[in-house]
Amino acid sequence: MKTLLNFFILLLMKVVAIDVEEEYMFELLKAFTPTPTGWSHTTPHCKWNGVVCQSSRVVSISIPSSSLTGTLPLYLNSLENLTHIDLHNNSLTGPVPELVGFRTLQTVNLGHNNFTLIPEGWFGWLQYNTDLQTLNLSNNLNLLRWLFPTELREFSLLHTLDLEATNLMGSLPSNMFDLFPSLHTIFLSHNNISGTLPPSLGKSKVRYLRLNDQGEWNRFTDTIEVISSMKFLFQAWLHNNLFTGQIPNMSNCTYLFDLQLHSNLLSGLVPPSLFALSTLKNISLDDNTLQGPIPVFHEGVNATWKNNKFCRNDVGPCDPQTTIVLEIFAAFGYPFVLSEIRNDVCNGGLWITCHSGKIVRIDFENQRFGGTISPSFSKLKSLVNLTIGGNNLTGSIPHSLTTLPQLQLLNVSDNNLSGQIPKFSSNVKLITRGNPLLGRNIGGENATDSHHAGPSETTPRALLIIVVASVSSTLSVGIVIFIVIIFKHKKYHISVKRWIFKKTTKSIGHNVEDFIQSYNLSVAKQYRYAEVKRMTNSFRDKLGQGGYGVVYKANLPDGRQVAVKVINESKGNGEEFINEVASISRTSHVNIVALLGFCYENKRALIYEFMPNGSLDKFIYKNGFPDAICNLDWNKLYQIAIGIARGLEYLHQGCISRILHLDIKPQNILLNEDFCPKISDFGLAKICQRNDSIVSILGTRGTIGYIAPEVFSRSYGGVSHKSDVYSYGMLMLEMIGGRKNYDTGGSYTTEMYFPDLIYKDLELNNSLNCLANSEEENDLVRKTTMVSLWCIQTNPLDRPSMSKVIEMLQGPLESISYPPKPFLYSPKISSLQTSDASSNNLLETNSITLLNRVP
Ligand SMILES: *[C@@H]1O[C@H](CO)[C@@H](O)[C@H](O)[C@H]1NC(C)=O
Ligand SMILES: *[C@@H]1O[C@H](CO)[C@@H](O)[C@H](O)[C@H]1NC(C)=O
Ligand SMILES: *[C@@H]1O[C@H](CO)[C@@H](O)[C@H](O)[C@H]1NC(C)=O
Ligand SMILES: *[C@@H]1O[C@H](CO)[C@@H](O)[C@H](O)[C@H]1NC(C)=O
Ligand SMILES: *[C@@H]1O[C@H](CO)[C@@H](O)[C@H](O)[C@H]1NC(C)=O
Ligand SMILES: *[C@@H]1O[C@H](CO)[C@@H](O)[C@H](O)[C@H]1NC(C)=O
Ligand SMILES: *[C@@H]1O[C@H](CO)[C@@H](O)[C@H](O)[C@H]1NC(C)=O
Ligand SMILES: *[C@@H]1O[C@H](CO)[C@@H](O)[C@H](O)[C@H]1NC(C)=O
Ligand SMILES: *[C@@H]1O[C@H](CO)[C@@H](O)[C@H](O)[C@H]1NC(C)=O
Ligand SMILES: *[C@@H]1O[C@H](CO)[C@@H](O)[C@H](O)[C@H]1NC(C)=O
Ligand SMILES: *[C@@H]1O[C@H](CO)[C@@H](O)[C@H](O)[C@H]1NC(C)=O
Ligand SMILES: *[C@@H]1O[C@H](CO)[C@@H](O)[C@H](O)[C@H]1NC(C)=O
Repeated sequence: MKTLLNFFILLLMKVVAIDVEEEYMFELLKAFTPTPTGWSHTTPHCKWNGVVCQSSRVVSISIPSSSLTGTLPLYLNSLENLTHIDLHNNSLTGPVPELVGFRTLQTVNLGHNNFTLIPEGWFGWLQYNTDLQTLNLSNNLNLLRWLFPTELREFSLLHTLDLEATNLMGSLPSNMFDLFPSLHTIFLSHNNISGTLPPSLGKSKVRYLRLNDQGEWNRFTDTIEVISSMKFLFQAWLHNNLFTGQIPNMSNCTYLFDLQLHSNLLSGLVPPSLFALSTLKNISLDDNTLQGPIPVFHEGVNATWKNNKFCRNDVGPCDPQTTIVLEIFAAFGYPFVLSEIRNDVCNGGLWITCHSGKIVRIDFENQRFGGTISPSFSKLKSLVNLTIGGNNLTGSIPHSLTTLPQLQLLNVSDNNLSGQIPKFSSNVKLITRGNPLLGRNIGGENATDSHHAGPSETTPRALLIIVVASVSSTLSVGIVIFIVIIFKHKKYHISVKRWIFKKTTKSIGHNVEDFIQSYNLSVAKQYRYAEVKRMTNSFRDKLGQGGYGVVYKANLPDGRQVAVKVINESKGNGEEFINEVASISRTSHVNIVALLGFCYENKRALIYEFMPNGSLDKFIYKNGFPDAICNLDWNKLYQIAIGIARGLEYLHQGCISRILHLDIKPQNILLNEDFCPKISDFGLAKICQRNDSIVSILGTRGTIGYIAPEVFSRSYGGVSHKSDVYSYGMLMLEMIGGRKNYDTGGSYTTEMYFPDLIYKDLELNNSLNCLANSEEENDLVRKTTMVSLWCIQTNPLDRPSMSKVIEMLQGPLESISYPPKPFLYSPKISSLQTSDASSNNLLETNSITLLNRVP
């Protein structure tokens, strides 16, 4: 059916193509101020300056450096045969025009403008866009923050990508360079990109790589090892980041002429392979912690190396003992703390003790060093005591250590050493405890506990739901595409639209009937409307009101207290109902509210276990609630946090298929008599098959303040279980702060965003609120805060999974790394209005309408 519709639309588009093109050009003329020279209503657009036509179709528009202001009309893709567009160095504002649907476009240069937004779906559906070779958006500093678009696919011809200073953030996808086999120039400097260099860079054909000067808070980290395998590299600008580790062996980079590494945390020796490169012209090494001798490059190389930890201030080899010590450090991977040790190792602080200028004692206990024990220790012939216990060393104890004539003490306890223990003389006190693999013949035993995952169970019931879900989602995608096309060709949309919506409603209604008929309900019982009415005493005792209906108190015939949620008739078309019954009745977990029954007759209703303590929001918001959360002790709060996390983890991992809740907020967390939290309200839930990590959802949904950025804008990535993690993080921060993060009363207009305040407190180590009475409690609050801040990272990839959240919450504070300051998007940002005008209509089919809530 979808192909048929598309065919139909394409047919319509063909007929009107020429007119659409002329119309677009006149809109463009109107949009620009000042009017570009030579453009006017009275001349045909093909004669305008900077416009090139072939067979009266526009193929190129080029008006750089013309002080143009204005917003480009949407649907640049009305110009079907456009191959080049160059509008760089103007002051254009508004969204970058959509590139969806172009087949012919080859170069796009929109650099040095004032664009504010990468529209949703900009890169989506680009599978048609196979000709694009150059994309340049550099220096659009007013762009709303965005992530490197993971949807980029099939850009097999793209060779130049310049996104310098475009407010990019998050980390780069590890496979990203596999996606562009032709890429030779990539500039991502002056953004806020964090994380490691993608491993796929190694196999790429990139020649010009600029990743320098990331923002103060978010920079590239980890080693630059991967560049050593970039055989085609000409230029690499990596300065002003947080790269660590050694400069790798560069002997394979035989074209390299410009390597900028200054202002990083690189350590170790400058490798000889770098001096040997005959192509090298410029190299900067300043402001790192490089060690060893000062590097000497070929004549004519412009090299700088100020502010490092070289052993001497002049050219020449290091002291022989220093050279040995550096070999030892190399095996540890040149730990940062040891970089202070310069040429005079005997004055090297606490680590090294000398006697008559010879090293007699080395003490590296409990330093968390990784790597291996260097055989070079055996060159220190005066060594008496060697202590390297309590690190994270692997490998074996070098046999050559047995040759040390003076050795009395060798302490290697508490590492991860393996292999045979060499035979030392009886004078040596050897301490090896805490190395489980040491002295054991590893590989002698074959692991037997092969984790039995069991065959993936697909009961007929699960199958049915998957079928129902996928039928409706295929349909939805079809509709979205269809409507987008329609909106571009307004004239033809009305009748078609009506037809589609009728169709959808009908098919969903049909699904509900099917679903109920074939659903073999083991737990939830189906009730008649009359029974529901009787249970609720004619809907007398109202407990609350949610987005999808009203909740009443009721008693089952057997006397059990229950809560009955009556679904709003006006809202939705049965989809939420299916969702809720399907999602909840397949779960069984102490932290998920149990569905006891449902009714699908006259009115739709869901019957749940009763939760005497109501919902969590009552305990969070102080205003109007006397028992706000400061009255719950920290332990209870912590238990609630863990409970919700367990419930979510179960939804994400524990069931036959993954369930995404997508509307986690305090109102949807119910508390039983013991304050055990239970997740409820599955109206927005999404069931996906286990292997789907990303789901597509129709329109924008969720609740402002808890909704993850990717749920409302595709430019932040796909919707996945990490979207629930985000909402969980916001909820936790609210619990910690004991206040609403998003006060609908109007304070969201202030720039200081609630998590921002919390982050500041964390930095200043302020006690965060009224909760912490003791040092121990303060640690717990800190731990929970750090976990929550990890959860609300804008890039879904940076957020932990729910299992990881539980692990972090239950582990020690020290094991949680300091979260990067989350980039805060505030939902009022114009993106919500401008991001997808066409989805305005789609929102109607969902019960929460974001736009309605934004004044
Ligand atoms: C940018 O455009 C201005 C005029 O609008 C011009 O003076 C300037 O030289 C241009 N800069 C570049 C780098 O092209
Ligand atoms: C313009 O594009 C259409 C569709 O992509 C194609 O059929 C047509 O031949 C092109 N016209 C020219 C003059 O290239
Ligand atoms: C971009 O817009 C800002 C205001 O939003 C303005 O201050 C700035 O001068 C503009 N830059 C250019 C290059 O037009
Ligand atoms: C991108 O365009 C800008 C002008 O807007 C230009 O200075 C820059 O060199 C271009 N980038 C590449 C990679 O060509
Ligand atoms: C990084 O983000 C901060 C805001 O957190 C912003 O002030 C800064 O300009 C950004 N840095 C770059 C290089 O874009
Ligand atoms: C250099 O390339 C050769 C051949 O591809 C490879 O075997 C070697 O490991 C590479 N060396 C480095 C340091 O990457
Ligand atoms: C660096 O790599 C080259 C090529 O793989 C190799 O021949 C050379 O031995 C390596 N140098 C060092 C110090 O490992
Ligand atoms: C690279 O070196 C050349 C001279 O060899 C110099 O003109 C140029 O400015 C240098 N570039 C950088 C980035 O240092
Ligand atoms: C050497 O490079 C630095 C920047 O890395 C530059 O400032 C300087 O002008 C260059 N010197 C020469 C002679 O090219
Ligand atoms: C070596 O360690 C022993 C204790 O194990 C201590 O008595 C001795 O003084 C140490 N020797 C040196 C040179 O530090
Ligand atoms: C110890 O080293 C291993 C890799 O060798 C690493 O995965 C692990 O995180 C390290 N542990 C600590 C505590 O540094
Ligand atoms: C371990 O298992 C592999 C294959 O499962 C087998 O080839 C090998 O001989 C086993 N090793 C020992 C020591 O049993």
